[in-house]
Amino acid sequence: MPQSAAIRTLSVALDERSYPIHIGPGLLGRPDAVTPYLAGRQVMIVTNETIAPLYLEAFKRGLPDGLEVGEVILPDGEHTKTLESVSVIWDALLAAGFNRRCTLIALGGGVVGDMTGYAAACYQRGVAFIQVPTTLLSQVDSSVGGKTGVNHPRGKNMIGAFWQPKAVLIDTDTLATLPSRELSAGLAEVIKYGLIRDLDFLVWLEAQMGALRGVDGETLREAIYRSCAIKAEVVAADETEQGARALLNLGHTFGHAIEAHQGYGSWLHGEAVGTGMLMAAELSKRLGWLSEAEVARVESVIAAAGLPLAAPADMEVDDFLAVMRLDKKNIDARLRLVLLRSLGGACLHDTTPTDTLAALLADFPRR
Ligand code: NAD
Ligand code: GLY
Repeated sequence: MPQSAAIRTLSVALDERSYPIHIGPGLLGRPDAVTPYLAGRQVMIVTNETIAPLYLEAFKRGLPDGLEVGEVILPDGEHTKTLESVSVIWDALLAAGFNRRCTLIALGGGVVGDMTGYAAACYQRGVAFIQVPTTLLSQVDSSVGGKTGVNHPRGKNMIGAFWQPKAVLIDTDTLATLPSRELSAGLAEVIKYGLIRDLDFLVWLEAQMGALRGVDGETLREAIYRSCAIKAEVVAADETEQGARALLNLGHTFGHAIEAHQGYGSWLHGEAVGTGMLMAAELSKRLGWLSEAEVARVESVIAAAGLPLAAPADMEVDDFLAVMRLDKKNIDARLRLVLLRSLGGACLHDTTPTDTLAALLADFPRR
């Protein structure tokens, strides 16, 4: 357990599967950060071609002596989030003779984290893994909560499992090398927490957007801490998404349709979620829940984060609906959407009139 003034710790309370989230600068390379969470002597670090040259050696320096350490360096990109890539991890584990007391380390963004977690969930029916997220999006969202998996050509994250990590180690120094487009994508998920559940946080974000985009360490750490605190609370209350956890998907039903239609990776996940949240806000207005001024406020915070405000020019109404019908939140044939009853108050809605939804999809700006 790292002890220093700059490191803050939260807990995801899930009984015997509870785990800490440590947040702060300089965590990579600290043996006290990782050692307590290793299941045994065998450690497989999974990362990708972009992150390895930046952080693999620093991470390895923090491992105690006497371990058997392997590494898998995957190609980069959302389009590589497939079962084939996960198989590469399983092949490496078997080739190295790793047993059920091994620990997988996900060193990277959400793509590496989701695939490593899924590899851990299935390898020998489940082994330990630790999340070491290096993008803002993975630090505030994907590394926490145990959703793991891969994409299918017909739908995003369609193959997967709930499998909780043993710890989440967030070294905020890694954000210094993150491209600004990726930072903006992460800000979409940060804004999401304010919109669904915490108006004070939204107000704070509106004021701090300049510092956040300027990569101010202290401001980013505060945003990460507050985001993880909300995520940890929601996950602890509804680990397998029987109810409240679905609200974390604000903007995702529209966003997943954009990602799947455009081909994984052309729009970043966070960009699609940003536009999707604006679509959800506009639909909420059409249902009489948000005012024009409130939608303008949503638009302005999404714009300030550097995210797109219009859907792809080549997407027709039916292109959206075809993917939205496959959404995991749907029950039977009924579409369930996360919408906003107010700023800071999301709801799950399964009676949106088809013509209202179709009109929103038709009218929403394209670029
Ligand atoms: P990503 O993993 O593709 O990372 C974005 C890019 O940044 C990649 O090119 C990566 O190599 C690079 N990168 C990572 N860290 C870096 C660093 N410190 N410096 C420089 N470059 C760096 O994308 P992401 O936005 O982190 O994650 C998106 C994925 O997360 C999607 O697949 C999405 O479905 C998933 N996701 C999962 C959950 C969940 O609960 N499991 C939640 C939200 C999103
Ligand atoms: N990102 C949505 C969730 O973890 O539930």
